[in-house]
Amino acid sequence: MDLLVVGGGGREHAIIKKLRENPEVERIYALPGNGGIARDAECFPVKATDVAGLVNFVREHRVDYAVVTPDDPLVLGAVDALEAEGVPCFGPRAEAAVIEGSKVFAKRLMKKYGIPTAACEIFDDMDAALAYVRTAPLPTVVKADGLALGKGVLIAQTREEAEAAVRALMGDRIFGASGARVVVEEFLTGPEVSVLSFTDGKTVVPMVSSMDHKRAGDGDTGLNTGGMGTVAPNPYYTPAVAEECMRTIFRPTVEAMNAEGRTFRGCLYFGLMLTPAGPKVIEYNCRFGDPETQVVLPLLESDLLTVMRAVTEGRLDEVEVKFSDRSACCVVMASRGYPQKYEKGFPIEIPADAADRVYVAGAAEQDGRLVTAGGRVLGAVAVAPTLAGAVDGAYALVKRIRFENASYRNDIGARALAAGR
Ligand code: AMP
Ligand code: GLY
Repeated sequence: MDLLVVGGGGREHAIIKKLRENPEVERIYALPGNGGIARDAECFPVKATDVAGLVNFVREHRVDYAVVTPDDPLVLGAVDALEAEGVPCFGPRAEAAVIEGSKVFAKRLMKKYGIPTAACEIFDDMDAALAYVRTAPLPTVVKADGLALGKGVLIAQTREEAEAAVRALMGDRIFGASGARVVVEEFLTGPEVSVLSFTDGKTVVPMVSSMDHKRAGDGDTGLNTGGMGTVAPNPYYTPAVAEECMRTIFRPTVEAMNAEGRTFRGCLYFGLMLTPAGPKVIEYNCRFGDPETQVVLPLLESDLLTVMRAVTEGRLDEVEVKFSDRSACCVVMASRGYPQKYEKGFPIEIPADAADRVYVAGAAEQDGRLVTAGGRVLGAVAVAPTLAGAVDGAYALVKRIRFENASYRNDIGARALAAGR
């Protein structure tokens, strides 16, 4: 089989390496891929958001199955367009990807179907939003309706900050049209858990839970990033919590999407907060998380392609989805300065014996060498019988990977280890 993977980050590298384990797989094309992915797939310079370019590509190359992972092509209808060309896909159609593409849609869905989430008000008028945040409880959470590179959430500690957040999103449009509407939300507290799930609209199979580390600095300080590291499983996600989430969140969400005529097929990602009042949804994503995927897929013992195709064909109940009971840790090595300004172009040295556990994100191939080309450069991953072992293994690997101006957090997994379950 010849496969197409749309995207070019560490998440897509992890997916491609896992897909390769299936002996039926012949070629894997990655659009656009990256310098590291180029060692495991054939990369072509078509942007993931260039839906017409993706369609042209499948017209020119035989593709038996496509996996679309980034949020923006999904929301733009890449799956709809590829399916129209006769290519079966893993990923939701646009009508279902709206669960991530519009926070207003997601909040209204949860309200209508009684799915636990933060209380909220929705505004499309800036003056009304400003009037509301002048009296809303603090801290106040202000979110842009649409996609904003994962940065559309502003948490205001004071009324002035809340007003500034509304003005930035709705007035200055710092995230463009995404800020035409905003959600102003109650501030929730508690440990955060990421749960990726496979669903074909009938069956929902949660994957092993994970914990992201979003802030740039040790001790969860500094700016928000795309994610500086992950561990799996998440120790806060006990069997009792998992059972409650299935009953109050996972199944109700899948059924709600069906009832709306927007059946979700693909990976539905539940961003959860375990509040004193029970688990609540912080956000839905219509795709695999990055860098959650880099710790979840190494623990998947079943064949990924088999599971994905079962999702596409609506027979997820017929396949086994088995996870190892070991633990995984991913430490992201970034360019110093990320998520702000940073330099690129530094050669990267990865020990050959470790290449299997390195997922490359921001790197390019230059004169046969891998060089840094982005903020998050790569993820170093280890799997071990215990979480402590996985954390030690990931950091031991980090020490063996070299590039100039590398930076990374020193405490990935520390909070999970302290939770000590
Ligand atoms: P993201 O949408 O991935 O940029 O995530 C924003 C982050 O903001 C989440 O991971 C939470 O830590 C935080 N957050 C979002 N909504 C709330 C809320 N209602 N209460 C508290 N924290 C929140
Ligand atoms: N790691 C969070 C996300 O993929 O949105």
